[in-house]
Amino acid sequence: AGPYSWDVQADIGIIGGSGFYSFLSDIERVSVDTPFGEPSAPLAIGEVNGRRVAFLPRHGEQHQFPPHRVNYRANLWALRSVGVRQVLAPCAVGGLRADLAAGTFVVPDQVVDRTWGRAHTIWDAIGPVVHTSFADPYCPRGRAAFLAANPAAVDGGTLVVINGPRFSTRAESQWHAAAGWSVVGMTGMPEASIARDLAMCFSTVCMVTDADAGVEGPGVSHAEVLRVFAGNIERLKAMLLDVVGALPEPEADDTATCACRRALDGLPLPFE
Ligand code: ADE
Repeated sequence: AGPYSWDVQADIGIIGGSGFYSFLSDIERVSVDTPFGEPSAPLAIGEVNGRRVAFLPRHGEQHQFPPHRVNYRANLWALRSVGVRQVLAPCAVGGLRADLAAGTFVVPDQVVDRTWGRAHTIWDAIGPVVHTSFADPYCPRGRAAFLAANPAAVDGGTLVVINGPRFSTRAESQWHAAAGWSVVGMTGMPEASIARDLAMCFSTVCMVTDADAGVEGPGVSHAEVLRVFAGNIERLKAMLLDVVGALPEPEADDTATCACRRALDGLPLPFE
């Protein structure tokens, strides 16, 4: 069947680190080709908490794709092509506020895109374009499920996404904080806006691993991020299990109340 199948095999997608494979029972690996090339890895589709979930390791099975080299378009398209309409996409971030210490989880409600040079939209062919509405970038139902699963998580705030792979200078970090932004990461965009291009619900939980470069001290290091991430991964996995259980069944496009699912308002996707 063609380069992509639209057989519904899962309705929830999780994009995260490879630690999440252990979640799924009876995994089926599904290789998907897309109009944008190959996703980071074959999809792993299975059952979590009574729901059909497709898992995709964002950085590849060998962690071979740095944030600026992830094929975000192929990843989202691949998930959509097996039926996913609700995407949960946790990420690691630096905290830009004193109250957001390492180990804190933040469920942002806004994003600022400071990435560049990444293929950032599916509306890239010569032909009709859809100017996707993105005022509220995250699905309210996904956010609510994250907050229900972890009442200690911080509700709201702005994620600023830098291109990386280097971390910010102190001046950049202080600028981001002075603008009122809460956390800084490297993977949240264009992942979120491509999901919206595809009329998929998308939400994220950000795990704070460090205080970025804006405060006294040596600044953030890769080793520190990895250490804190490893120390909190079990909490994140437990939260995601609960989030999957808390998500409402997906609605049909024409009855959905969230802007995500209405993004195309009945228009077909390109290449369909
Ligand atoms: N990911 C984890 N910590 C980060 C930081 N300080 N800046 C950008 N991305 C990050």
